[in-house]
Amino acid sequence: QCEKTLIILKPDAIKRNLVGKIIGKIEEKNYTIESMNMKTLSVEDLTYHYDEHKGKGFFPDLLDYMSSGPVVIMVVSGDNVIKGMRKLCGATDPLEADAGTIRGTYASTKNENLIHSSDSIESSKREVAYFIK
Ligand code: CMP
Repeated sequence: QCEKTLIILKPDAIKRNLVGKIIGKIEEKNYTIESMNMKTLSVEDLTYHYDEHKGKGFFPDLLDYMSSGPVVIMVVSGDNVIKGMRKLCGATDPLEADAGTIRGTYASTKNENLIHSSDSIESSKREVAYFIK
């Protein structure tokens, strides 16, 4: 069934000039890009977005990294796009990400892993409502 998901191309994707290649992979899957904009995320945005990671050891590094430059925020739609985009991203740890996935191909650290993709229908609704005004 047709779903929507929130995708964020993280600051390393922009710094490394990988935006075109990553969007290319999304287009090759024939998903639809419904909207796209660039923004530098604030601490407030990130505290909302990463609420589930508050208090974890990597949280301060996550805030520094995610606010270090502009990101690209997209709403992507398609059949079962939430699971499909998670699969296309690959595992958080690039050593576990399958070859051919975005992280498996381009990421080499767990922290700077290029892309965020909503993990459930509930998260996608929450994230789209916040980031797309
Ligand atoms: P993501 O899975 O999109 O959301 C949480 C992010 O925190 C993760 O991507 C990484 O960018 C970052 N992160 C940094 N260190 C860790 C870690 N040890 N475990 C999980 N995520 C981490």
